[in-house]
Amino acid sequence: MTSTQAAPEPLLQRAKRRAEHMLGPWGVFFKGFLKHPVMVGSIIPSSKRTITKMLAPVKWDECQLFVEYGPGVGTFCRPVLERLRRDGSLIVIDTNPDFIDYLTRTIRDSRFTAVLGSAADVEEIVRAHGHDHADYVLSGLPFSTLPDGVGPAIAAATHRVIRPGGAFLVYQFSAKARDFMARHFRHIDSGFEPWNVLPCQLFWGWKE
Ligand SMILES: C[S@@+](CC[C@H](N)C(=O)[O-])C[C@H]1O[C@@H](n2cnc3c(N)ncnc32)[C@H](O)[C@@H]1O
Repeated sequence: MTSTQAAPEPLLQRAKRRAEHMLGPWGVFFKGFLKHPVMVGSIIPSSKRTITKMLAPVKWDECQLFVEYGPGVGTFCRPVLERLRRDGSLIVIDTNPDFIDYLTRTIRDSRFTAVLGSAADVEEIVRAHGHDHADYVLSGLPFSTLPDGVGPAIAAATHRVIRPGGAFLVYQFSAKARDFMARHFRHIDSGFEPWNVLPCQLFWGWKE
């Protein structure tokens, strides 16, 4: 091989990329669900209506840093990037290495960073990427099935990391997430989206 030729892609990697291409993002998501049903908590990604409704109250001109927990295959990432300022940043955090690997390979945007880790460590992650706080945090985490203590720890860390005037945006099949939020956010707006598998509850917790 001459120095101008690119190294051949390893066979396993190529097979993985082909399989993903055939399956599409929904297939990758379903595979993730079969592997970690409790952590993923859903069989298909959120609907367009859920995304539009959830993101509607965000003041994009005031948003420098948007953080997302549990991005899965990026259902919200692309719509967030479409709305985000040119000098803004989107940091997504997921515990599933397959999803992080998929997002890193498929979303090529200099404002985008995918981090393998837990939402409970959001403060360290935000600081490690050069920010003091987040303007908005979005969560698709299955709060009702998270291991004991994880939900409350995530809600507390999220309240600390959001700047005054910012918000914690949460969508979930059950209203349990609201209980975790209510310990820290006094002003919570609620909504409901029936066009989603399953129909889901939407909450916006505003930091005073
Ligand atoms: C219901 S899926 C959300 C999918 C996607 N956001 C959507 O709207 O289609 C939940 C995601 O949360 C992730 N997750 C579970 N526990 C987590 C934690 N402690 N920190 C970050 N991500 C977590 C799972 O790996 C999964 O990707």
